[in-house]
Amino acid sequence: MLKRWMAFASLILLVLTLSLAGCGGNQSAQPAAKVLKVGAEATFPPFEFQDEKSKEYAGFDVDIMKAIGKQMGLEVQIVNTGFDGLIPALEGSQIDAIASAMTITDERAKRVNFSKPYYKSGLSIVVKSDNVTINNFKELEGKRIAVQIGTTGAEAVKKIKDAKVREYNSASEAYLELKAGGADAVVNDLPVNEYYLAKGGSKDAKLVGEILNAEEYGIAVAKKNTELAGKINKALDEIKQNGEYARIYEQWFGKKPQ
Ligand code: ARG
Repeated sequence: MLKRWMAFASLILLVLTLSLAGCGGNQSAQPAAKVLKVGAEATFPPFEFQDEKSKEYAGFDVDIMKAIGKQMGLEVQIVNTGFDGLIPALEGSQIDAIASAMTITDERAKRVNFSKPYYKSGLSIVVKSDNVTINNFKELEGKRIAVQIGTTGAEAVKKIKDAKVREYNSASEAYLELKAGGADAVVNDLPVNEYYLAKGGSKDAKLVGEILNAEEYGIAVAKKNTELAGKINKALDEIKQNGEYARIYEQWFGKKPQ
């Protein structure tokens, strides 16, 4: 009797093992989804933002990444992440790349692999229309300045004498603070300031002063991922050659790439 039970039990075990193995086999037989997970802090129009109605991600970076993905045969999935959380997310492999109007800096290049530059930018100042005291970066001394956390703008204003720096999770919150009178100026990327003013901000705000720092944006991948970095550079060259880059650039900035 005992023997028969044991034979039965081992039969069950065998069946279970086989069916489990079968499951594993089925799974691996399915083609792996070819997705490129791209991190972006998506409140930064015209580079990355969510369309109000459709909630789809849109912007220059989003279109450039889709075009790059197409060249590489990959589907691009945007992962909305706080700006200061992007590099950690890359290091933790939650995302494969960053395309978030991220300026190529020596400091960041110690932690990530940047692609070739894909956009030329710089910092600029926005103040209330009736402000007559701030006309340049020098006159930001001692003033309350709103910036987005973790950005080159935040770094730059921390060097200004006696500046009272207020850091926000998004650039839109920084503009709101200016509007509400809680800050005297916003320091942010020039094209983003221009877009904000063009989209209604110019009712009570204006751009002043010179452009600080020539900056260039790059797509970042993990330090160890040199293969992906190479492929992204190749795809970037290809979309510049086939006219796709220029088409996207004109669509978002209304002029030909510089
Ligand atoms: N270019 C600036 C930097 O790299 C700001 C980028 C902010 N990007 C964003 N998607 N919020 O620091």
